Amino acid sequence: MSKSFYSLVILAALSVACTGPKTLQDRLTANDRQIDEVISKMTLEEKVEMLHSKTNMSSAGVPRLGIADIHYADGPFGIREEGVPNGFQSAGWKLDSATYFPTGSALAATWSKDLAYLYGKGMGKEARLRGKDVILGPAVNIQRLPVGGRTYEYLSEDPILSAALSLGYTLGVQEEGTAVCIKHFAVNNQETNRGSVDAQVDERTLREIYLKPFEKAIVEGGAMSVMPAYNKVNGEYCSENEHLLNEILRGEWGFKGMTVSDWGGTHSTMGAMLHGLNVQMTGSNYLGQPVIDSIAKGVLTEEMVDEKVRQILRLRFAIEAVPEDVANTVMTSQPQSQDIALQVARKSIVLLKNEGGLLPLSKEVKKIAVIGQNAVLRTQSGGMGAGVKALYEVTPLEGIRRRAGKDVEVVYAPGYKNFPGRRWGPAPKEPKPLEAAAIDEEADPKLLAEAVEAARGADLVIFFGGTNKSIETEGSDRKDINLPTGQETVVQALHEANPNVVSVIISGGPCDLRVLEKHSPAIIQGWWNGTEGGTALAEVLFGDIAPSGKLPFTFPAKLEDSPAFAMGNFPDPNAGGDLFTLMYRQDRTRMSREQIAEMMAKMPKPVSKYTEGALVGYRWFDTKDIRPMYAFGHGLSYVEFDYGILKATAGKKGVKATFTLTNSGTREADEVAQLYVHRLDATVEWPSKELKAFQRVTLAAGETKTVTLEIPIEDLRFWNVEKNGWDLEHGRLELLLGSASDDIRQKAEVSI
Ligand code: BGC
Repeated sequence: MSKSFYSLVILAALSVACTGPKTLQDRLTANDRQIDEVISKMTLEEKVEMLHSKTNMSSAGVPRLGIADIHYADGPFGIREEGVPNGFQSAGWKLDSATYFPTGSALAATWSKDLAYLYGKGMGKEARLRGKDVILGPAVNIQRLPVGGRTYEYLSEDPILSAALSLGYTLGVQEEGTAVCIKHFAVNNQETNRGSVDAQVDERTLREIYLKPFEKAIVEGGAMSVMPAYNKVNGEYCSENEHLLNEILRGEWGFKGMTVSDWGGTHSTMGAMLHGLNVQMTGSNYLGQPVIDSIAKGVLTEEMVDEKVRQILRLRFAIEAVPEDVANTVMTSQPQSQDIALQVARKSIVLLKNEGGLLPLSKEVKKIAVIGQNAVLRTQSGGMGAGVKALYEVTPLEGIRRRAGKDVEVVYAPGYKNFPGRRWGPAPKEPKPLEAAAIDEEADPKLLAEAVEAARGADLVIFFGGTNKSIETEGSDRKDINLPTGQETVVQALHEANPNVVSVIISGGPCDLRVLEKHSPAIIQGWWNGTEGGTALAEVLFGDIAPSGKLPFTFPAKLEDSPAFAMGNFPDPNAGGDLFTLMYRQDRTRMSREQIAEMMAKMPKPVSKYTEGALVGYRWFDTKDIRPMYAFGHGLSYVEFDYGILKATAGKKGVKATFTLTNSGTREADEVAQLYVHRLDATVEWPSKELKAFQRVTLAAGETKTVTLEIPIEDLRFWNVEKNGWDLEHGRLELLLGSASDDIRQKAEVSI
């Protein structure tokens, strides 16, 4: 799809609005008169019913007045299987198998807002088939920590990249008549103590880094709902954070829709009522009867409730309810969406290294040894909330076998044990044969010997390493980024047995590749890549397509090099409590909500200091001159690209940069051209360079295209703390154009 098509979507949406409301947010107010009539007919009890959950995944409408309930679905990378009304346990339905889309970091590795838009459309359509009104996604928090448990759900460490994808996703979903609930607002960058941690971040960093992906989807994309996060930001819980919800979201950004607390993330009646929350998920202990009691006591007014209901009804009126007899009549996963998942997977795979042109596989390769359990483990579910019951999932081994056909023999050995992560309930008496008891367990001698044997007899080895969905998961962060269960020993032994080793990392976040890198002439970052992940991977390995993904975050050489670790900001030694785990696992902890609340109150109050400021990810590595293992934006192809001279102009509206891009290879390939800005006369403090624009370009063999990248002036501003507003620092900018943040090919200078 062309860039112009994507722009047309925004233009079309806005031109509808030209005759009436000005922005996509204003469009939400189109039914306000009718909404007010409805409100005037409602009892206080009916209104308050709308302010909290009805079931685990719905909130009430007004049946008497023909207003349907609102149905929610996780999100963010597939419509989650139907749960029982009051919990997350499976409802045991047959038609709720959905398309498993590549997870967030894989989507981000495409660096394609067009694909994010298509992805959103696929998600939006499947939500409708299931009768869902709101998708709990996209999840757009900045990947601040390499160990972050939800890195795989999130997009990127960079705000401009995250914002572009978050906008594409939002437009796609909402165009299908489903609302997004963009999450987790805001600064939810860690799982450790996520239910209580206070993220202490300065205003400039907040605005320039952490809020950007939300701002874009809300202001330009018209996101209809927002999920305040579990954590606190600068002392206040996000679900009752005046600055975030009332001043910024509704005040500055003109948000007209509704906010829905993260599940268990509402903390008080007054806080929620006064500071911007619409719906308590889940439970009614704050936004149920206590609201009615507070009105009776005169500390809240019914008009306040009316305003909340109005904001909820705006979404309800904008999203047509799916009639019950229409919903769930066909399988959720549809071929069109499966095809989108495949398109995204194809463009997400990152070739990190390709020494001696080991890839694509040569025709001489007649026998392949596929080693490593990550070649066969399915990645659709696990990781707590964000799992999908996929209709099908092509694993890497299946993809390779199918593509290899009869000509190439493929043998498989598990190589290492899988670490199944934390267990709920008692550990099994006998450990399962292929499961490790600890994440750092040594390589299993028997599996190792078997793998080496297979490697010896093959022309080429494909080693599948990385993490799994219990190691990277919601509710906890990784302790480190080490490869688990002796994987380093295995790859080293394989390499000794056979020098032709291609390593494929199957993970959502970065891993420490210092050892693996020494024993792998070729390395691919393969992600958790959705329903068709194995198909796409095989296409890249066998050279049907050239790889074109680019890293959306830095792979540090070692964890201690990354900013929050280097600054001693993470981990915080204070232990706390994970709300989700405590509240929703009552069946396991056997504690009442009151007991849990009491325990939480006594816990130390964890803090996360963001003193690294804007120096997140590559901004830190560049500014401090620390070499990462693989830099942000890195990703090789099977061809070379030549960048022509960069010509740039600057004006009131921003910067325009033009250059030619040539595919000097003999096959079609995509390149993602990246434009960074370095400030030359800075008086304000800036990171060494910052991504400001990018473009994915498809080029036939030998083809040259002229590419123009534009940086809107708004994206060059900084948050001036003294003025408490956006400001522009005039001066010279050095524009750095390249194939990765550490592979700059052309430079130009402009003044703004
Ligand atoms: C997660 C949300 C999710 C919700 C409902 C929470 O634990 O943080 O992202 O949407 O559960 O499943």
